[in-house]
Amino acid sequence: MTKIKTQSEKALAPFGDLTINRGRLVVGGCFASELAEKYGTPLYVFDVNRAKNTAAAYVDVLRREYPDFTVCYASKAFCCAGIYSILAPLGLGADVVSGGELYTAIKGGMDPAKIYFHGNNKTESEIAYALESGVECFVVDSEHELTLISKHAEKPQNVIVRVNPGVEAHTHKFIQTTTPDSKFGFSIADGTAEQIILSIKNYDNISFKGIACHIGSQIFEPQSFEIAIDKMTDFIVKLNSLGIEVERLDLGGGFGIHYIEQDKPLTPEQYMTNSARYLKSAVKSRGIKPPRLIVEPGRSIVGEAGITLYTVGAIKTIKDIKTYAAVDGGMFDNPRVSLYDAQYRAVVADKADAPCDCEYSIAGKCCESGDILIDGIKLPELHTGDVIAVLSTGAYHYSMASNYNRNAVPPVVAVADGKSAYMVKPQTYEDMTRNDVIHVFSEDGI
Ligand code: LLP
Repeated sequence: MTKIKTQSEKALAPFGDLTINRGRLVVGGCFASELAEKYGTPLYVFDVNRAKNTAAAYVDVLRREYPDFTVCYASKAFCCAGIYSILAPLGLGADVVSGGELYTAIKGGMDPAKIYFHGNNKTESEIAYALESGVECFVVDSEHELTLISKHAEKPQNVIVRVNPGVEAHTHKFIQTTTPDSKFGFSIADGTAEQIILSIKNYDNISFKGIACHIGSQIFEPQSFEIAIDKMTDFIVKLNSLGIEVERLDLGGGFGIHYIEQDKPLTPEQYMTNSARYLKSAVKSRGIKPPRLIVEPGRSIVGEAGITLYTVGAIKTIKDIKTYAAVDGGMFDNPRVSLYDAQYRAVVADKADAPCDCEYSIAGKCCESGDILIDGIKLPELHTGDVIAVLSTGAYHYSMASNYNRNAVPPVVAVADGKSAYMVKPQTYEDMTRNDVIHVFSEDGI
């Protein structure tokens, strides 16, 4: 007979902040099942201290290893006003990719002077809004964008240019960003990066500050970042030879986290120490001026700080095939499984010490066969009403949620030191229908 591992051994090992107290899962000092009871499910739970500690680790390491730096939190990972009020006091800036993210960041207290505006197709109104708000820098991704910035900028506007260094990072193809056919950035290899940068001198209200890349997401190997540093610093040498100074080097985000047992990410300290030291020596060996280093971690700051709680409803066994345990969430709160074949661990909130001797597929409630949250996981025997916690859901879950099947986007509850409070309040049916027009061609639309 094989030894059955408990969930506590198997699933929680990498999550130092999730603990078990007499068989019950504890997050941020709160019992998960009590949160489910108090706030209902599905529920996103966000461990504030976990995110703070990770963000602070980025800042601390760089202060030590490479003092001319900015850590810009990548808003796309988890964007709501409260996250900025947590991260801004730690000295972080933000990367935003839309007017909506910019608005939310400012609303949450992020200083626009610390905001970098990314995106491969910023609209004219977004550009005008960003200029009005005083964002620090645009990360330019097209010639069209330069003309729009120039049209609206009333004073010289800082920009850096997104380039494609052609680094093959080992991750899902939809989250790779520097393949030769990528929609992002200007290729270094084919000379278009150099051309666009040279063209910036034609705009008297645009000030070129540097170059940016982002090689992909959920990357484990530090070597991928080293290759990017080599290619980017080689390119700086080239630009310098054309008389162009490069003050800033933005290496993007992409640092991997734990989702399942096989995932072996480095810590933020390790990723940063490695990249900072590698950059220092790359700069030295090429004899170039050390640029300001910008990094844009998203997933690694918020991913492991989040869990999602669900309640088990229907349990259905298909003889000799599988047993489905259906929960009250699904692809509307977690589209990552259907998009990227993402895999997760889960814990039954009040059976966290029980042996995992049953196999389930955790199904969502959407009308799609593909709406499966975990396809095959060993758990203790489940019963209707059990609360399940899916782990590592802090990044690209709330921010990618939808109202598919007119399910409400779940609220986000922040937890810390045994306290809990809404970070994002529940969405009501009224909220979901607020902008619906019933009689579309009648005069008042009601
Ligand atoms: N900077 C840039 C320019 C980016 O495009 C991204 C992510 C980041 C920073 C942050 O990367 P992170 O540190 O979070 O890996 N929806 C996908 C991930 C898409 C990432 C897109 N860009 C997912 O759920 O896995």
